Amino acid sequence: MTAKPLSGKEFAAAIRADVTTRAARLTEAGTPPRLTVVTATKDESSAWYVSSIAKAATKAGITCDVLDLGPDATVDSIRQTLRELSADPTVHGIIMQTPLPDGIRLDNVAEAISVEKDVDGANPASLGRLAVGRPAFASATAEAVIELLDHHAVPISGSHVAVVGRSAVVGKPLAHLLLNRDATVTVCHSRTRDLPTITDRADILVAAVGRAGLITPAHIGKNTVVIDVGTNATDDGLVGDVAPEAAETASALTPVPGGVGPVTTALLLRHTVQAAEQQRA
Ligand SMILES: NC(=O)c1ccc[n+]([C@@H]2O[C@H](COP(=O)([O-])OP(=O)(O)OC[C@H]3O[C@@H](n4cnc5c(N)ncnc54)[C@H](OP(=O)(O)O)[C@@H]3O)[C@@H](O)[C@H]2O)c1
Repeated sequence: MTAKPLSGKEFAAAIRADVTTRAARLTEAGTPPRLTVVTATKDESSAWYVSSIAKAATKAGITCDVLDLGPDATVDSIRQTLRELSADPTVHGIIMQTPLPDGIRLDNVAEAISVEKDVDGANPASLGRLAVGRPAFASATAEAVIELLDHHAVPISGSHVAVVGRSAVVGKPLAHLLLNRDATVTVCHSRTRDLPTITDRADILVAAVGRAGLITPAHIGKNTVVIDVGTNATDDGLVGDVAPEAAETASALTPVPGGVGPVTTALLLRHTVQAAEQQRA
């Protein structure tokens, strides 16, 4: 069997089209939607990612400012900037881009982003709200997994989902989103014993680790739908966490690139217009 490819490209384009309509409506009504991305690094792949968000935002009619605090930024200076942006009524969405300077944790500074503007779910309060089923923006990547499953009509309710990776950015918010949708969730991590015996029983396997080729056919059961969140730069270009041979075993598989990534970017924009609509109301 060869896995059905679960592309995210066309779906992301449809999300961006909806965002463009909503952004135009907001601008007409006197509230041009505005997103600010704060950076504090010289990391090149991060710069590339930020410029791709900025381009997509501009194309959709969202003003996107990139505020670079430089690699010498401190916890206090970052928190101060995020507090000022949170208080600025012309800014509707705020992203604190990683990596951060050595020793600074995202959750520590992201506490200063108001929950209403926290369009990538980085404030621990947003994660807490998700956990108890209250409205909050989820991490765009975690939500992209849910949206992709829905878009491709993969049932979530009652399904056993194995999430490999437990970061605050992907694995943990995703586990809550899945629980909120009545999935049975197993969260695996680097200390999980005998990973394949857990993952090969799952209806849906989500790989969010950051290790090329970690997930092999041995991890995948019959009829398993595999969502590959991983993005790993290799000599062969960008690859996911799922080994190419896995396509022979999985029933469906997201490509890398072209799967979760474009949907993530589109959802950041959707969250921004949603935030602007809510802040205007
Ligand atoms: N497509 C997108 O839009 C998008 C967005 C964000 C991230 N990503 C990609 O997603 C991947 C994960 O990102 P992240 O920020 O969540 O990474 P992270 O913070 O490094 O977390 C990685 C997770 O994988 C677990 N892990 C490491 N080795 C493992 C192993 N051998 N077996 C099982 N679990 C293992 C770790 O376990 P411990 O907790 O025990 O250390 C940790 O929970 C990366 O490739 C990243 O580039 C993609």
